Parts: sequence; structure tokens; C-alpha cells
Amino acid sequence: MVERVGILVVAYGSRASAVIDALSRSDNYDTHFYVADRQHNPFNLRYAEEHVVIPDLDVAKIRDFVDANKDRIDFGICCPEGPIIAGVRDVVERDTGVAMICPTKRYAIEASKASQRLLLAECCPEANPRFKVFHRDDYGYRSEAELKDAIWKFLDELGSEVAVKPDKPTAGKGVGVWGDHFTNREQLFEHFKSIFESGSDVIIEEKMEGEESSFQAFCDGRNLVPVPDTRDYKRAFDYDMGQNTGGMGSYKDTKDWLPFMDRHDREDEERIVQKIFNALRGDGDGSNDGLRGMPFYVAFMHTREGAKILEINSRPGDPEIQNVLPVLKSDPVELCFSMIEGNLSPSKLECDAKATVVTYAVPMDYGGYRESYSGDRKVDLSGVYRLKEKYGDDLRVYPGSMELRADGNTYALGSRTVCTVGIGDSIEDARAISLDGIRHIDGALWNRWDIGAPHYIARSVERMKDLRRG
Ligand code: GLY
Repeated sequence: MVERVGILVVAYGSRASAVIDALSRSDNYDTHFYVADRQHNPFNLRYAEEHVVIPDLDVAKIRDFVDANKDRIDFGICCPEGPIIAGVRDVVERDTGVAMICPTKRYAIEASKASQRLLLAECCPEANPRFKVFHRDDYGYRSEAELKDAIWKFLDELGSEVAVKPDKPTAGKGVGVWGDHFTNREQLFEHFKSIFESGSDVIIEEKMEGEESSFQAFCDGRNLVPVPDTRDYKRAFDYDMGQNTGGMGSYKDTKDWLPFMDRHDREDEERIVQKIFNALRGDGDGSNDGLRGMPFYVAFMHTREGAKILEINSRPGDPEIQNVLPVLKSDPVELCFSMIEGNLSPSKLECDAKATVVTYAVPMDYGGYRESYSGDRKVDLSGVYRLKEKYGDDLRVYPGSMELRADGNTYALGSRTVCTVGIGDSIEDARAISLDGIRHIDGALWNRWDIGAPHYIARSVERMKDLRRG
């Protein structure tokens, strides 16, 4: 008999639509959704039994929503990092008794990039670049000349090829990289100062050259079960031009690693993440359910010296999880219960050996495409939904930063509007479906055309070979 299950989803962007879509396909459970959303997302509204708009995703308001529905909610999932950092799991579990799938506040690892670097220095120094943290308390009272002196000294040791980062979550923004954002020390200093003045400590670290992969793993606090690797496209424009964004799209191959990697690279990633997990989990009985959910979204850079970590987050990647959830073979609700009950195992997380490509369509004023846009923001998805008659479940459409208004139409807001996921036997097949989907969206939006493109992948493969020959 199919059992009823009530699920809270704390939603932000297309990632949440993908989570709801996956869970709604459970064969073993009759799913009912309670969505705490940033806006009237048209997809989430269609699925929600109860829907509340909480624009700032304030934890107390989410708790109140859960409390009002707690007799009908079996567990909750939090997708974005903001509420995780603010302690949504701690507060909801304490005040309502509803189990949450996400780490506790203590394990919101993205809250401090400096703490991440210090943790990695302890447990897997081989995956850390050389770095130094400049604390405002140490330097704030000194003169500009003294501060420059300290920075120059470090750059003399390291070489000028560095990244300059604020010690806080940046959503892909605020990070300055030598060669991209500055080309001399004075410009670097200006970037440094702007971070100091925004109230944050600063990390300067070695710039890592190589090819990126996104590694994600589900966790029940005792067992870590990784999902296949994906490649995110962070830059706004084709050929990786333009500014950093939240991610314009991503691809996944038919196996667990990416075309420029081999099995050993993937094993290195798994070994490194296991070390981080062991360090955080601590001793005792080997279990720490504060680490439930997806405590390790790890952005790796595969360099000449091996796999290094760019950053870690305590939630699924967006768009990266949209590459994975549509090809999940195991029952998604069972997977959630196994994370809560502490009996997660690889058999709970089987994926079809399919390639997937995610492409985001974004508004004209996103990512530096236009300085401003004053035109109509109406977006009509009916054309792309009709295309599902041709592709069936090999095309998925996940609305993100868009809302349904009282006039019955949907409108783009400020961030990534909607993504299309193509599923195929090869990256090329999946890309063709994803892009066909994009072409059938009616609205003033734009997108990258090279997500998963053969020329892009060939370049990654060549670059990796060059680095290894190096
Ligand atoms: N796509 C990058 C992230 O989710 O952090």
C-alpha cells in the first residue's frame, strides 16, 4: 500500500523545483508538499498542499509554518545555505519535533572560508592551496602602508597569482582573481580594501590552475554516499568570459567522473572528502547526525599537483543537483528516510547511467549582459512544456527566480529564471534536448550556448593532459 508522507521544502531557485519533482515521483509514497518559498514559484505552487512566501527565508517564520502544519509533515528539506547558516535545522527540530534534512548550524561550513581552510590544513593539507587569513582586528588599526607591507610580503612568498576572498559566503561573487579582476598589486589592494571595508576578514590564496568538478555526497551522519560528479559553468558568457554567477549550467557524463578525469581522480576526491567527514564527525561511535543531508558540496580544481579544494558548501549545488535528481533510480523518499534513520548506503542511491545537461535562462540584467533592462519581464513556459510531448521525461523544466502573479502570467525576477535539463545517452544528446527546451521558452531571457559543448569538453581534456604532462 502507498503510504502518505508530508514533506516540508525550504525553497530557493530551480534546485527546489528539482527536489519536489524527484520526490513526487516516488513509487512507494504518496507525497504532499509544504513549501516555504521566496516567492510564488509556479512549479512549487502547483505541487504544494500548503505554500507560504517568506522572501527572506527567515528561520522563525519557517518554524511557524512548520508548527502550523506539523501533524501533517514527516520531515523537511532545506535547499539554500542561508537558513542552514541561520540554524533552521536546530530551531525547527527543537520547536516542532519535525526532522530536518540538512546540517545543523554548527556544520554550515560555508559560513567561514577561513575556518574551511584551517580545517583542511589539519585533515587534508594536500587539497589546500597556500593561503593566509588577514583579520580585520589585527590590521584594522594599522596604516594603509603597514597593511600593504604585510600583503606584499605574502605575495613575495607566493607569487602574485592569487585569489582574494571575503571570509563569508559569496554566492560566486566578491572573489577577486589575479588576471581576471586585477593585474597589478595596487588593483589587488583596492579589491582587498573593499572587502575589509565591507566588514569581512580576507583570505589570500594561491590561484589554482586546472579543471573544475563539483562533488556532492548525501550523508546520514555515519555514512557518506557520493553522487556522480558534475561540471558547473560559473562564468556568465560562452568561452568562460564575463563575471562569476551562481552557475549558468552544468553537465554530467554517463559515469561517475567527468571526461577530463579518470577513475583515480574520482577516488582522490572521495578519499579527500572522507577525511574531511572523519575530521568533522569526530571519534566516539563514528556517527554525528549534525552532518545529515548534503554536508559536502565540494568544488574541486584538478591541478598539476592533484585535486585541490576551491570551496565547500553544506547544501546541494545549484545547478549541479539538477543534473543528478532526474536520473535517480532509487526511491527518493526512501533515501530521505535512510538519512534520518542513519542507514544510508550506496544501494539507496542508484542513478541511471545517463548524461544530463542543465542550461539556465536568465534575465537581461543578470550577469552583466545588460547594464539594465526596463522591458517586459513576462515569461511564458507553455512552449517548452509542449515540447515534453516530444521528449517525455528526458526533458525537465525547473522554474527558479520567477513568480506567478495575480494576472495569471509568470514573470522573471532578478536571478536565474528557469533551467531545462536534457537527459540522454551522451552529453551531446542531453545538450541538444536542453537547448531545444531553452529555445521554446518565450521571454526576454538569455543563456550560454556552450554548456556541455564538444569543443568545450575537448578543451578541458586537452588542458588536463597538458597539465599532467607539465
Ligand atoms: N553552482 C555553485 C554552487 O551551487 O555553489
